[in-house]
Parts: sequence; structure tokens; C-alpha cells
Amino acid sequence: MTAHRDRPPLPGPEPTGSRPTRPDDPPTPLSPIVTDVPAPSPRIPAAPPAPHRPLLDMTIDGRPVAVPAGSTILEACRAEGIDIPTLCQVEALEPAGVCRLCVVDTGGRALTPSCSTPVTEGMDVRTGSERVRHARRLILELIGSAVRMDLAGPELPDGSVAAWMAEYGADPTRFGPPAPPAGPDERDDRHAGHHRAPDGAVAETMAQPVKVDNDYYVRDYSRCILCYKCVDACGAEAQNTFAISVAGRGFDARISTEGNVPLPTSACVYCGNCIAVCPTGALMTRTEFEMREAGTWDAAAQTTTETICGYCGVGCTLSLTVQDERIVRVLSPLGHDITRGNLCVKGRFGYAFVQSRPTDAGEARTG
Ligand code: SF4
Ligand code: SF4
Ligand code: FES
Repeated sequence: MTAHRDRPPLPGPEPTGSRPTRPDDPPTPLSPIVTDVPAPSPRIPAAPPAPHRPLLDMTIDGRPVAVPAGSTILEACRAEGIDIPTLCQVEALEPAGVCRLCVVDTGGRALTPSCSTPVTEGMDVRTGSERVRHARRLILELIGSAVRMDLAGPELPDGSVAAWMAEYGADPTRFGPPAPPAGPDERDDRHAGHHRAPDGAVAETMAQPVKVDNDYYVRDYSRCILCYKCVDACGAEAQNTFAISVAGRGFDARISTEGNVPLPTSACVYCGNCIAVCPTGALMTRTEFEMREAGTWDAAAQTTTETICGYCGVGCTLSLTVQDERIVRVLSPLGHDITRGNLCVKGRFGYAFVQSRPTDAGEARTG
């Protein structure tokens, strides 16, 4: 209290104390508008300079190139305009290198996954040799024989691997007709290590019913290629919620909540960050799923608008997919340096109020 009494008086009129302001009180002076931005405090250190990345010499398909150290083979190839198919590579996450579709030949005994292998000095890379094409063809056939791939591809999740199948001459049907689909939770109940011997007459598949147990998104694991992207996004690479992980082994491996409990009773916080990185459409918003089921999802009629989420001061960038003047999906750019594609439940799913419209009866209708 002493320090308060010793303070010098503030400029301006005498304070009126707790009494109400009277009409004859002198006007309170306005604070001057600050037009000069003060220099940054010398206590705030400058941003560190970008690390110097020396150039490494390498050869791609016989062509000498120089790429910054730390680049992956995939980045080096794409910088040269060479198209390499990828499924499990998502720019916002560390490469897991599990689908192997991006393999290239670096002269070793085994082919090399380009998405997860850094360039080394003097590396000689072949991207289209017969060995590479054969491996990619077989990978596409094995994945395509077991998993629904009609929504898979690099444009999440509206791409298509059909063009790659044609390019590499892949025939996923050559392993025989598909085995009957598993029943609800049948795959989830399988015991690790207890494999049935295949009879060779049919091809085993991931086919199973779609899991619809909440209002926000569905899980269609008949489309899952076990790429780990959703697990990484839910876990240590983004959300740190750890609601899902890989359970089981071998062909019975699957993505699961703890104890296979329904999503509403799991640790899930419905951020939807797993949906954003799923490359096959196995994870999908309920809106998109229902529109696709009804045949009304029309990518050709959709536009994308970027805006800022209004729910909190973080101000995440939202990328709104709009169809027929309605928001049908919310993403965030994977390359954005603030969000890296991640949002919370409000930004991802809390948009119904935006399109609240009065009905003829005068009631608000949302969604
Ligand atoms: S919505 Fe979020 S919390 Fe839930 S499973 Fe996906 S990433 Fe994890
Ligand atoms: S659900 Fe999608 S992101 Fe998750 S492992 Fe399967 S394909 Fe990958
Ligand atoms: S994209 Fe490289 S291993 Fe899947």
C-alpha cells in the first residue's frame, strides 16, 4: 500500500473516485495513438540463421544433380520433376517407410525406400529400372488384392491409384477371388500369432464392416494399409493423445483403440488429425462418408476457401471444402508452419453454426 501512495499522480483530471461521472466533469483525455513501432527489446534474441546445407553431388537416372544435404531421395527426385508413387508419405509427418511403393534402386542388394532415405554424396539412383517397376507392380498387386483402394492416393483422400495400376501393369485379381468379408469386430478379436492356414482358393482381404460409433467420423478399415500415419498423428508427432495404435500381428494387424473400445469411450478427443493424414480414405468425416454413400459427394463441384478459425487466439488456418454453398469438410494445410495440418475438434467439426439457416417455419436449421 505504501508503494501505491508514493506513486506520482497520473496526468489528466482529478479522479472522481467512486462517484458517478457528472456532465460537467472535464473530458477524460484519450490515449495518444502509437504510430511509431518501438524497436525490439535487446533482450529478445534474434532468430538463429538458417543452417547452412552444403550441396551433395549425386546421379539420378544417369543425370548429375546437386541437392542440399539432408534431402531425401524422394525430395531430390521430385525437385528434378521425376514422379515417384507414394502412399504412406505425408509431408507433415516423419516418413515411416512402410508401404514401399516409393522404392528406387541405389545399387544395393535390396531396393531403397526413397521417402525415408537421405541422399549421400555420390549416390547413384535409378528410378525406373525393371527391378524397380517389378517391385512396384507387386506391391500394388498385394495391397490392391487386400485393401479397397478406390479413394487412395496422394491427394487426401480424393486421389486414385488406378493410374499407377495401369502404369505398372498391376493385376490385383491374380491371387484369386476375395475371401468373404469378416464380420463386425471379427478381425479385432483375433489372437496375435494364431494364424489360419490359407487354403489358396481365395485371397485374404481386410474387408469388414465400417465402424460408425460417433457423430464426427467413421473408420473403414477395409481401406487401411497400416501406414501408421493416424497413429503418429494421434501420438507423439502431433496430438499426443495416443487414442489409437496398432494391435495384432502379421495379416491380422489392425489399427485399434485400447481394448477395441468404441471411440466415444476411448481417449479420442475428436481432433480429426488422423483423418487429415489418412492416405486411403479409411478415416473420413461422417459428413463426407454419408454424402459418398448417398452419391452426393461431388469433388468437381467443390471449391476450397482458406480462412482463420475464430474460436480462439491461436488463429489456425482453415481450408474449407464447400459444395452447394455448404461447408462439407474442414482441413488445414499440411505444409502450414503453425498448424502443420492439425486442428482441434472445434476448428475441425464446429462449423454447423456458420450455415444455420431459418426454415420456412422460422426455426434455425444447421448442418
Ligand atoms: S481424432 Fe484425434 S484423438 Fe481421436 S483418434 Fe484421431 S488423432 Fe487421435
Ligand atoms: S487408418 Fe489410414 S492413416 Fe491409419 S494406418 Fe490405416 S491407412 Fe494409415
Ligand atoms: S511412400 Fe515411401 S515407403 Fe511408403
